[in-house]
Amino acid sequence: MSRCTGCLSRRTFLERSLFSATKLALGAPAFALLSSCGQQPLASGKGLSDVTTVATNSNNLYTFNFTDYPLLQSVGGSVHVTVNATSGNKDLYITRVDTNTVDTVSTICTHAGCTINPYDSTTREYLCPCHGSIFSADGNVINGPTTTPLPSYPATLSTTGVQITIT
Ligand code: FES
Repeated sequence: MSRCTGCLSRRTFLERSLFSATKLALGAPAFALLSSCGQQPLASGKGLSDVTTVATNSNNLYTFNFTDYPLLQSVGGSVHVTVNATSGNKDLYITRVDTNTVDTVSTICTHAGCTINPYDSTTREYLCPCHGSIFSADGNVINGPTTTPLPSYPATLSTTGVQITIT
């Protein structure tokens, strides 16, 4: 029996078909998460790997419900959002610091503008990977070279979510 150049073997065809069917069944984004670097897929809703863009609210009040942002229900949980605020886009980490506190800070380091690492719930700090500045959860400087706190935004916590004022 002759074999054509470039034709798939029956086994390869079946393997690829199964791969594609699995990808379709799971949805491409979920499949990509599952198949890349062995990470667990995110729980439903927004997590740190989702940088969610939030549309402008003319009242400057932005609500992050636990239904959509379940990580904010747990102490140490943090989400990364870009808010199209009335004064311009703000790239932010919103972090549930403790039972009664949520802090919201800019992700942009005040030393030279690098993006700081996500919140470390063990140290309760943010580290800038560029030159080592360290910030507390509320944006204050713990370690330089920077001497300027991260911009922060007032947040209130309720039983259903977090509301943040961003002007
Ligand atoms: Fe963050 Fe230099 S840019 S420490």
